[in-house]
Amino acid sequence: MVATIKDVDFKGQNVLVRVDYNVPMQDGKITDDLRIVASLPTIKYLRENGARRIILMSHLGRPEGRCVPEMSLRPVAKHLQELLPDTKVEFIDEVSGPEVEAAVENLPDGGILVLENLRFFPGEEGNSSEFAREIAESTHANLFVQDGFAVIHRAHASTSAIAADLPSVAGLLLEKELNALGKIAKNPEHPFLVVIGGAKVEDKQPLIDKFLNVADAIFVGGKIAADGYVSTDPKIIVASDFSDDAKFDIGEASTAKVLELASRAKTVLWNGALGKAEDEEYATASKALAEFLGQHPEITSVICGGDTTGFVENLQKSEPDLKYTLVSTGGGAALELLTGETLPGLVALEDFS
Ligand code: 3PG
Repeated sequence: MVATIKDVDFKGQNVLVRVDYNVPMQDGKITDDLRIVASLPTIKYLRENGARRIILMSHLGRPEGRCVPEMSLRPVAKHLQELLPDTKVEFIDEVSGPEVEAAVENLPDGGILVLENLRFFPGEEGNSSEFAREIAESTHANLFVQDGFAVIHRAHASTSAIAADLPSVAGLLLEKELNALGKIAKNPEHPFLVVIGGAKVEDKQPLIDKFLNVADAIFVGGKIAADGYVSTDPKIIVASDFSDDAKFDIGEASTAKVLELASRAKTVLWNGALGKAEDEEYATASKALAEFLGQHPEITSVICGGDTTGFVENLQKSEPDLKYTLVSTGGGAALELLTGETLPGLVALEDFS
C-alpha cells in the first residue's frame, strides 16, 4: 500500500497537491463538479492538520502544450472558492517562476493557490524533470500529494517526474479509489456481477476479458448490446430486447434480468450506461439499476466511466438518498487499474520510503 497523508507530518509545511480538475465545461461554466467536490476531503484534512499553504495543480482538456484560454483553470478556482467559503482560494495564470513564488509567499496560512493548466506547457506531458523541479521550487513545497486519481495512468511531470523532487504520498481520494477498485480487482465478495454498457466495445472488451473468470455474471447492455454483441459464454448475458426500434434503451425483460442479477449480488461493478441515458426517454433501464443499487447499501456498488458516473450523480441530485460504495472519478485510470495495467502515478508513490 502506498503511504498517504495520514502517514506523514506536514504541520507548518507547504503542500503541493496534484488534483484532477479536468471537468466538463460549457460556455465557461462547469457542468459537472464531481472531481472538484471529490478533492475536498484531502484539502480539508491538510488544512485541519496544520498544512501551512496548499498549492493545487491540474490539467484541463488537451491543449497540447499551448495556452488555450478556454481551458484555463480560473473558473475552477472560482468554483472551489464557492465550495470553500471560509478559505482564501487564489488563482495564478502560471505554474512556476517568480510570480508563483510571490503568490505562494503572499498566501495566508491555510490558504490555497490554484496553478494554471499544467498542459499549457509541453514539459507536463513530456514528463520533464526540469519542469517538475521548477514547480516544486517555485511553490516552496515540502511534500507532494497525489490525489488526481483520474490521471494516475499518465506518466506526466505532475504524476511521475515530480516524485523525484519531493516526498510523495497519496491523498484521501486516491486512497478511497484504490481501496474500492483494488478490492474489486483482487478480491471481490461473491456473488459478483459486472454490468457493462456504453458504446465502444473496444474499450469494454478488456474489462469483460479480465472479469470473465472472476465474476459470477456479466451483463452487457447499452449500444454494445444494440450493435449485436455476441458471446457464447454462459456467464455473459447480453440484453436481447429493446425499448424502441432504434435500440436506444434496453427493454423491460432485459431490465428485469439485470435487476434480478443485482438483487442476488454482493458486489456490483457497473461501467457504461444501459441506454442512451442522456435522453430521459432512453434512461429507463439505467435509472432502474441506479435506483436499485443506490437503495441497497448492503451491496458493494462501484460505478465507473464518465457517462455512468455523470448519470448517477445527476440522479442523486433529485434523489439524494441514493448511496453507492464508490462513484469513481476516474475514466481511463479506473479501467486501467481494474484490468491490472501499471499506473505510472502510483509507481511514483511506491518509491517513497
Ligand atoms: C480523464 O478525464 O480521464 C483524465 O483527466 C485524464 O485526461 P486525459 O485522458 O486527457 O489524459
